Amino acid sequence: MKILIIGATSAIAIATARLYAERRDHLFLIARNAERLSDLAADLRVRGAQSVACKALNLDEVGAHAAVIAEAEAFLQHIDVALIAHGVLPDQTASATDYKHALNSITTNGLSVISLLTELAKRMQAQRSGTIAVITSVAGMRGRQPNYVYGAAKAMVSTYLQGLRGRLHEFNVHVVDIRPGLVDSPMTAQFPKGLLWSRPEVVANKIVNSVARKQHTVYAPGYWRWILLFVIAIPEALFKRMKF
Ligand SMILES: NC(=O)c1ccc[n+]([C@@H]2O[C@H](COP(=O)([O-])OP(=O)(O)OC[C@H]3O[C@@H](n4cnc5c(N)ncnc54)[C@H](OP(=O)(O)O)[C@@H]3O)[C@@H](O)[C@H]2O)c1
Repeated sequence: MKILIIGATSAIAIATARLYAERRDHLFLIARNAERLSDLAADLRVRGAQSVACKALNLDEVGAHAAVIAEAEAFLQHIDVALIAHGVLPDQTASATDYKHALNSITTNGLSVISLLTELAKRMQAQRSGTIAVITSVAGMRGRQPNYVYGAAKAMVSTYLQGLRGRLHEFNVHVVDIRPGLVDSPMTAQFPKGLLWSRPEVVANKIVNSVARKQHTVYAPGYWRWILLFVIAIPEALFKRMKF
């Protein structure tokens, strides 16, 4: 299969890319750190990928998206799977008091993803096949005090994906929304870990399986579906007092 991974140096994306490499797939990788990207490409070749190409890009530069997606398509010829994985966890206090700070993270977590989806959708619609998978978050399902700026951007993407899924359905293009819970990755390095935490490899398995099964919305691990059902059911009068 021909796989495009955007934000390829994320811990979850690396674990996913390794699974595709072991299946001898072809990969095109996009991430902003050129050195880590070329190390990752070499690692994936050793693990079995049939071909790997990469492009370094700061994904906040939305004006460059059309060209980089065109480059990926030229290399892969046909994009079977496109995974969007990049993201940042902003400092909530800074984001809540400084609009520029909020805008920076909303650009990375929300607007840059929508720009990429706009380009990918055009190409997938034209080829009349393929799957677009995007890593959002359970944080997008209810605005919590400690991370509502992050959650708002993820919610924007999840809502966008729902509409996009409907639009692309008749073109045989599938859209998967992957919503991880707490994952032990560089993004969360500063937090103490507990029972609910999982490894990037667990989420990666879920991504590969949900793409193969053409699932719609996937919680990773699956128990987050039930946790979120509970969180959503908490009455607002109580929820607004909760600091978690
Ligand atoms: N970890 C969790 O608990 C958790 C939970 C729910 C959802 N998620 C989501 O899962 C996805 C992957 O995160 P992760 O846990 O694997 O964390 P991670 O290893 O820290 O990955 C985040 C990646 O995003 C990249 N990135 C950030 N801003 C970028 C930009 N402007 N241009 C290009 N790349 C950029 C980073 O690149 P650099 O390496 O160059 O900085 C990094 O590779 C993210 O969308 C995240 O929001 C994570």
